[in-house]
Amino acid sequence: MNNPNSPKGDILIVDDVPENLQLLFSMLTERDYEVRRVLSGKQALQVVDMEAPDLILLDIKMPELDGYEVCKILKAQEKTKHIPIIFLSALNDTFDKVRAFDVGGVDYITKPFQIEEVVIRVENQLRLLKMQKEIEFKNKELILLNQDLEAFSHRVSHDLKNKIHIINGFTELITQEFSDQLDSHCKDYFRYIYDEGKRMAEVIQDLLRLSQVQNTELEYSTFNISELVTEISDKLIKENKDSIVDFVITPNIYCWGDLNLMRIVLENLLENACKYTSKTEKPRIEFGTFRKEGKNILFIKDNGVGFDSAMAEKLFTPFHRLHSEKEFKGTGIGLSTVKRIIQRHQGDIWYEAKINQGATFYFYLSEYRHNGVRI
Ligand SMILES: Nc1ncnc2c1ncn2[C@@H]1O[C@H](COP(=O)(O)OP(=O)(O)OP(=O)(O)O)[C@@H](O)[C@H]1O
Ligand SMILES: [Mg+2]
Repeated sequence: MNNPNSPKGDILIVDDVPENLQLLFSMLTERDYEVRRVLSGKQALQVVDMEAPDLILLDIKMPELDGYEVCKILKAQEKTKHIPIIFLSALNDTFDKVRAFDVGGVDYITKPFQIEEVVIRVENQLRLLKMQKEIEFKNKELILLNQDLEAFSHRVSHDLKNKIHIINGFTELITQEFSDQLDSHCKDYFRYIYDEGKRMAEVIQDLLRLSQVQNTELEYSTFNISELVTEISDKLIKENKDSIVDFVITPNIYCWGDLNLMRIVLENLLENACKYTSKTEKPRIEFGTFRKEGKNILFIKDNGVGFDSAMAEKLFTPFHRLHSEKEFKGTGIGLSTVKRIIQRHQGDIWYEAKINQGATFYFYLSEYRHNGVRI
C-alpha cells in the first residue's frame, strides 16, 4: 500500500538504455507517480522546455549530450534551474561524484537499481521541493504583509505628524496673540495642550524612525566606535549643562557596521544611561569591550537606578517601560529601535541590571573578515 504522506509528483526519466527506462518507469508508476521517459539528452531538453517536471532522473553516460551537459544547460536557464536532478550511474562506470554535484545535481543513484533506494531518494527530493515551495509562498505572503504594515504605519505617522504640528502651531499662536485676553487658567490649559501635542509628535517621530530602520539598506564600513561614543557623550554633556556624568570610554575600538544606524543605537543607549543615572550621586557611564566565545562584545555600563531583570522580559518591545513617566520621561521606543538595528547587523543585545545597582547593555555585531583576519 502506498504511504498516504508520500509526495506524488511529475518525474522525467532520461536514459539511453530502454530496459533501464522501463524498470524505473514501472517502479515509480506503481507508486502513483506521474512518469515521463526519454532516450536522449536532446529529447530531455525538449520535453522539459514544453512542460517542466518536478524532478529529473538523469543518466550520466549517454551518446551526444551526456548527463553532465544536460544538467549544466538546465541549471543555466532561469526557467529550469530550480528542477532537482538525481544522476543515474552504473557502479562500474567511472562516475565523478564531485562533478555531478558541481554541475548542480542534488543526489545520485547507482545501477543496478534497488527499488527501496530509488523510492526513498525520489521522495526525499520531492519532499524538499514541497517544503521549499511552501517556504517561498509563506515568505512572499510575509513580505506583502510587511509592506502593507509599513505603508500603513508610515502613512498614519506622516498624517498624524502634520495634524499635530497644525494643532500645536495654532495653540502657540493663540497664547501669543491673545495673551492679554486669556486668564491664567486658560493659559495653563493651552500650555497643557501644547505640551501633550509635543509629546505626541515625539512618539510619532520615534515610531517613524523605528519603521525606517527596518527598511533602509545597510551601508557597511569600518569605523572607530569609541570616537562615536565620545562624540555623542560630549553632545549629551553639552545639552545638559548640569550633567556631572563621568564618562569612561575605552579608546580605539573598531567596528564593522552601518555608521548612521549604529549612531542611533549609541544615542539611545547613552541617552538612557544618562537619563537613568540623573538621580545618582556620582553618575558614571563606561563604554568598553571584551572577547567572549569568539565574539567582540561591546558594553555600556551605568550606575543608575537600574531595574529588576525579572520584570524586563519585554524591554525590547515598543512602549514597554519599567519606570513611570513621573520618574523619568520617555516613550519606550528607544530600545526596540536599538534591538532592530542590532538584529539587522546579525548581532544580538542583552542586559544585566539590578534595582539601584545600575544597568549594563551588552551587544555585538556580525563580524567582518578580510582575508580570514577578523576586524
Ligand atoms: N540604563 C538604564 N537603566 C535603567 N533602566 C533602563 C535603562 N535603559 C532602559 N531602561 C528601562 O527600559 C525602558 C525602555 O527603554 P527605552 O529606551 O526603550 O525607552 P525610554 O527611555 O523610556 O523612552 P525613549 O523611547 O524616549 O528612549 C525604560 O523605560 C527604562 O525603564
Ligand atoms: Mg530611551
